[in-house]
Amino acid sequence: MIASTTAPLNAVVPLRIGPVVVDPPVLQAPMAGYTNYAFRQVVREFGGAGLLATEMIAARSATWLETHRGEHPDRLWGVREEPRPLAVQMWDNDPENLAQVGRRLAKDFQVSVVDLNFGCPVRQVTVKAHSGSWLLRDPARVGEIVRRVVEACDGVPVTAKIRLGCAETCQTAVEVAQRIEEAGASCLTVHGRVAAQFFSGHADWEAITAVKRSVSRLPIVGNGDIDSAETAVARLRESGVDGVMIARESLSKPWIFAQTAALLRGEPKPPDPSLAEQYELVLHHYDLVCQRFGTERGTLLMRKFACSYAQGLPGAREFRGRVSRVLSQAEFLEVMRTSFPSQAPPLSCQENTK
Ligand SMILES: Cc1cc2nc3c(=O)[nH]c(=O)nc-3n(C[C@H](O)[C@H](O)[C@H](O)COP(=O)(O)O)c2cc1C
Repeated sequence: MIASTTAPLNAVVPLRIGPVVVDPPVLQAPMAGYTNYAFRQVVREFGGAGLLATEMIAARSATWLETHRGEHPDRLWGVREEPRPLAVQMWDNDPENLAQVGRRLAKDFQVSVVDLNFGCPVRQVTVKAHSGSWLLRDPARVGEIVRRVVEACDGVPVTAKIRLGCAETCQTAVEVAQRIEEAGASCLTVHGRVAAQFFSGHADWEAITAVKRSVSRLPIVGNGDIDSAETAVARLRESGVDGVMIARESLSKPWIFAQTAALLRGEPKPPDPSLAEQYELVLHHYDLVCQRFGTERGTLLMRKFACSYAQGLPGAREFRGRVSRVLSQAEFLEVMRTSFPSQAPPLSCQENTK
């Protein structure tokens, strides 16, 4: 059942990840290829996310971190300067590599939270590198990794993100969560699917609740299929988790965190931005991307973000077809001007109504 949206939710308290207060306990999920500085900036401007996260970085690039002191790779764009709290996520299967990069992120980059990925289902990470969700079949190794990284980060909280297991027949989340708790992690996010599902089916929130019940002090953040502010509030209230994390829906609605935060304060949900405001938002996002990557690369990168923003809007199909082929700034702006879903009805309709 969906919770009432106007009653104050006294039961919802900020999430504590070590010394970091996550208020409200609504987190922006890490998404490779998407949650870069520009996207995080947009989320931050709307407000409402208690903790933001980067894309995952490969800890094998530890060598790169050592040899390129002072340089920022694309995936750490903005990380040094931007406001806190901010979590940086990394993946690998080697405790020493992860400890080395974790220490660097904690000390030199002064991130608020170092997050470990044990949920990625992508072949390149699992089959090829025996990392991400591959490690869910080996709870002892997950525990060993967490312990090493906690030691290395020396007081900066370490968190982990998992799925329910590798496959339906290998649901290890409860055992993995217990190992993660024993190893000294400060929070665990559980995506309610097994890796073999990728994104099919539904997130199993009862299984997330079971993980929550299996640990004693480790805060648990639930994740999966939150598609509105109302759903976020309902999951938070009904599943017993300490926080909720939103991924895909925020790509088309980065204001979902602000709406959720308002509901949690017992206030009415702010309306979605108007189409004119959404148009301006896409241009603002494009500007941030181009400032970093230049207009040529920035335009190519912006195609997928523009497609996400159009999701669910009238005329989205035509817009996506066009914007996903743009090659230059001029083309991007032309497609925005002529086919981004607009509030004004097309001219022919206006004429017909006269
Ligand atoms: C494009 C994309 C990239 C993702 N990249 C990451 C990642 O780098 N690290 C991670 O832990 N999860 C990643 N995820 C998973 C999400 O963080 C989240 O667990 C999942 O999408 C379920 O949440 P949702 O139903 O709100 O989308 C990614 C998901 C998507 C769609």
